[in-house]
Amino acid sequence: MAAAQQGVTDQTGDAVSGLDWRDGVVPVSRRFDDPYFSLAGGLDEARHVFLAGNGLPGRFRPGFHIAELGFGTGLTMLAALMAWRAAGVAGVLRYTSFEACPLSAPDMARALAAFPEAASVSSAFLAQWAAGATRLVLDGMEAEVIVGDARATLPVWTGLADAWFLDGFSPAKNPELWSADLMAAVARHTAPGGSFATYTAAGHVRRALAAAGFTVDRLPGFGRKRHMTAGVLA
Ligand SMILES: C[S@@+](CC[C@H](N)C(=O)[O-])C[C@H]1O[C@@H](n2cnc3c(N)ncnc32)[C@H](O)[C@@H]1O
Repeated sequence: MAAAQQGVTDQTGDAVSGLDWRDGVVPVSRRFDDPYFSLAGGLDEARHVFLAGNGLPGRFRPGFHIAELGFGTGLTMLAALMAWRAAGVAGVLRYTSFEACPLSAPDMARALAAFPEAASVSSAFLAQWAAGATRLVLDGMEAEVIVGDARATLPVWTGLADAWFLDGFSPAKNPELWSADLMAAVARHTAPGGSFATYTAAGHVRRALAAAGFTVDRLPGFGRKRHMTAGVLA
């Protein structure tokens, strides 16, 4: 079975999603006890934190490469693709995401259904994901989801990203995705002049990113978060 379709099963063999649904629409991981995106609006959050935080769409150029820690529902990727298409840049946007626990296509479809604005990009993505693809070819984008624990998969990745979307669950609940070692690996896999953005302003994450070689700026956060963090490779 393709990795994207593997799921946890209970003793009867039924698929167990590991999700609760806040207000019926926002997926919440039972394992991490944290939502996949802001309850105040996942698409607007992606645009504020990850796109604007990385100076996008202004920095887009043909072949621009985004990398992400935490693929989740795919919503952040789809926000980037929508911005890319709207910017009218030639060529393709490259997108690489690291994900330890891929969601099933039905769970993703349920999460993405809350964003009708994204329907034009989500339908083709979901069709490929449901077929088991982790390499995705969409109009304007070539994406790869690297399945596995990012602590093992990122250090051996051979790519370099122009922009990083750091989107693990909260550092308090998912500390392994924010460790100093992993932030150093992020920096090693950043192109000269490359950048990162994240919704968190946790002090130890900011210090780890600074130690890894990034400038670290505190910016206004999204929704109820007062601050977020962004920076460039110094
Ligand atoms: C907040 S969600 C990401 C939301 C996502 N960007 C979206 O658009 O829905 C965090 C993700 O990080 C993943 N994750 C947690 N620990 C991980 C690890 N050690 N390696 C790779 N992925 C991990 C979780 O499985 C989850 O999908």
